[in-house]
Amino acid sequence: MIDLKDLPHASRYVIITDDEVRKLYGEVLQKHLQEQGAKVELLSFPAGEKSKNQETKTMLEHAMLELGCKRDTLIIALGGGVVGDLAGFVAATFMRGIPHVQIPTTLLAMVDSSIGGKTAINTPFGKNLIGAFWPAEKIIIKEEFLKSLPEHKVLDGLVEAVKIFITHSPNGLKFVDENLSKILAKDLPTLHELIERSTALKERVVSRDKREHSKRATLNFGHTVGHAIELLEDYKIMHGHAVALGVLLEAKASQVDGHLSADEYEKVEKAITQLGFKSEELEKYEESELFEAMKSDKKNQDGVISYVVLERIGEIFEDKDKFAHELTFDTLHEALTQLKNAR
Ligand SMILES: NC(=O)c1ccc[n+]([C@@H]2O[C@H](COP(=O)([O-])OP(=O)(O)OC[C@H]3O[C@@H](n4cnc5c(N)ncnc54)[C@H](O)[C@@H]3O)[C@@H](O)[C@H]2O)c1
Ligand SMILES: [Zn+2]
Repeated sequence: MIDLKDLPHASRYVIITDDEVRKLYGEVLQKHLQEQGAKVELLSFPAGEKSKNQETKTMLEHAMLELGCKRDTLIIALGGGVVGDLAGFVAATFMRGIPHVQIPTTLLAMVDSSIGGKTAINTPFGKNLIGAFWPAEKIIIKEEFLKSLPEHKVLDGLVEAVKIFITHSPNGLKFVDENLSKILAKDLPTLHELIERSTALKERVVSRDKREHSKRATLNFGHTVGHAIELLEDYKIMHGHAVALGVLLEAKASQVDGHLSADEYEKVEKAITQLGFKSEELEKYEESELFEAMKSDKKNQDGVISYVVLERIGEIFEDKDKFAHELTFDTLHEALTQLKNAR
């Protein structure tokens, strides 16, 4: 359990969580901190990506104002990436910014979303379009939370870890390959090592480029397509699932564009399919609707759709300090055709 001494000092604390995590851990944490003498409130919203919007943000802000919270309040974001992004963004703008801590409870949030200070909400126009860079005062990782996480959500989180290994660490990829059954069995030391490896890589990239002017963009591999799929699915698909399909298609596009070799593409495909995500799922999307949906991506400039190009496992294509490159309709078409014909 998390004790008061593990948290930065504040006059009062507001735990923000979703209704599922509230029942699992939120109420227990509130009571535990209250028993240690802290003034602690607990706010929650319906679980799921659909809640990551302006309405939920306003609801939380008004609840905090109603409670009389001031600048001496610390927000505790307890939950997955949705809670982390939303509660972090509330912290970023509440009374022009108050501190927050991230306590991730999904694998995805532990390996990826709690790190790096990006907070955001979705809009009908696209994903994460309104937000702020607002780093947490502290990130508290307890693998024990994962014991209650269903397997499909573990696989979902693994996608982000695998994504960072594909782009930055062949050794990391090997580690997942060799330890997949232990990860799925939720062996705590194995989960610990997985999270350490992934966060170390992400922290290294982020510390050199806090506001995503250059190399941090490499973390978006798979996300040009992934975000478009989330938009087309009206956010009813899990983020990791959409990114898995994005990784497959963007790797194939990297091959079509003359960067990734066929051998290396095979390795990417193996890494993703062993998590249960298959390229044939891409066939349900019309090329033109996918292309249209990609236009809302933040990475685009001057109306040109851009994506992160893989050179080989562990290496991103870089051209004069640029890490995002044009994804043309022809490349998209050819990549989808090749994926289909390979079956
Ligand atoms: N800020 C970043 O840098 C960054 C990076 C990657 C992803 N993201 C964002 O993260 C979000 C996805 O995060 P997510 O997959 O964690 O989604 P999520 O927060 O919706 O959590 C998934 C589900 O698991 C449940 N849950 C959480 N912890 C649990 C536990 N310990 N046991 C049982 N159930 C539990 C939740 O209630 C929810 O239903 C997306 O919105 C994505 O855009 C942000
Ligand atoms: Zn992601």
